[in-house]
Amino acid sequence: MPRGLRRRAKLPTHPRCRYTKSSSLTAICLSGLPSPLPFPRSFGRPMSSLTDRDGLAIEATDLTKVYKDGVKANDQLNINVRRGQVYGLLGPNGAGKSTFVQQVLGLIEPTAGSVEVFGANPVHDPDTVKRMIGYLPQTTFAMRDLYAEEAIYFTGRLKGLSHREAIEQREHLFSVFDLEEIRGKAVFQASGGMQRMAGFVAALLGHPRLLVLDEPTNDLDPLRRRAVWDMIRRVVNEDGATCLLVTHNVLEAERVVDRVALINDGRVVAEGTPGKLKERLGESLRVEAWLREDGELAAEQLTDLSALGILRQPRPHQLSILVPLDGVGTTVDRVLATIGLEQIDDFRVATASLEDVYVELVGRSIADDDAEVAAAALPDEAPVAAG
Ligand SMILES: Nc1ncnc2c1ncn2[C@@H]1O[C@H](COP(=O)(O)OP(=O)(O)OP(=O)(O)O)[C@@H](O)[C@H]1O
Ligand SMILES: [Mg+2]
Repeated sequence: MPRGLRRRAKLPTHPRCRYTKSSSLTAICLSGLPSPLPFPRSFGRPMSSLTDRDGLAIEATDLTKVYKDGVKANDQLNINVRRGQVYGLLGPNGAGKSTFVQQVLGLIEPTAGSVEVFGANPVHDPDTVKRMIGYLPQTTFAMRDLYAEEAIYFTGRLKGLSHREAIEQREHLFSVFDLEEIRGKAVFQASGGMQRMAGFVAALLGHPRLLVLDEPTNDLDPLRRRAVWDMIRRVVNEDGATCLLVTHNVLEAERVVDRVALINDGRVVAEGTPGKLKERLGESLRVEAWLREDGELAAEQLTDLSALGILRQPRPHQLSILVPLDGVGTTVDRVLATIGLEQIDDFRVATASLEDVYVELVGRSIADDDAEVAAAALPDEAPVAAG
């Protein structure tokens, strides 16, 4: 370990911590100094805010952001996040999710409309708001030149934890997420997934009332993704926290979120519980088939299948047809007859998922390029989308 890092650095500066005022995570951290501790003291202790479940954690009203170059990233967003919920923000690249997050954090000032966090305005009262939030930005960890354990320790200290608390919480989370391998490594030397984990751990420090996680499972392996989802549910269920969760991992998020807003082009196109959103598809089931590697479908076969329901071809060898409940039997028969059993590697019938809603509402607009070739072979009324 380089000299100088052995000494306990005086906060808020550290010789190897190259944070800048514009660094969002650091901005959140620094804003916590030197105010009194807003957090409970030991990890695992339920928050006093267990009685905090009534009311809104985030209330966005007609929230609009137009960047200097004229891009309208958020367009009159109305989003209410109730306390004690995991609220998912889903939408394609460029939909305006991170812009919304940064307005919640007070890092970007709204062009019009307003947003409140536990009743406080992030622009007028940034310190109050930032102290309540644990934030995992979409971009990299702020203190990336420090060793991972130092970066997490200093984040804890900057959040107002004592030396002991910062170490206790860090060690607890290192153990929960099995992060030993990043100890003694500078954050930037860790793999992408492990940097993400370090950022997630940093966001959890100090039991924030509101966790704001911008794509927390990017780059993570399946086991760590599961650990992250479990932890999110735990801090919400047991600690009484609220979580605003931005993710592209719609299939897995469905099991974690209480409510969802689907955003496209800066606007909310659907909002509600996953169950409620799925009702939009009616009583539908998804019939899926995987072709053998050497299997190929002719344009006429695709045309036939597209007449059965909403046909998607997420991959060249995978087909998915969303069909009304009463059409499942016919569809299965037709798929088997059209493709031929010898061409099929795997086959299943599944309930419609949140991802199906996503594809139905925003998927076609972002997938048209990918699906162009397949769609060209189909009549206009047969919707095909890449998944
Ligand atoms: N600082 C900025 N200046 C100008 N335009 C910006 C800025 N930040 C974002 N944008 C634009 O605003 C729109 C929304 O971007 P944003 O990052 O909020 O989308 P997103 O939903 O988070 O996308 P992704 O899923 O790719 O992270 C995009 O068109 C983007 O190019
Ligand atoms: Mg984003």
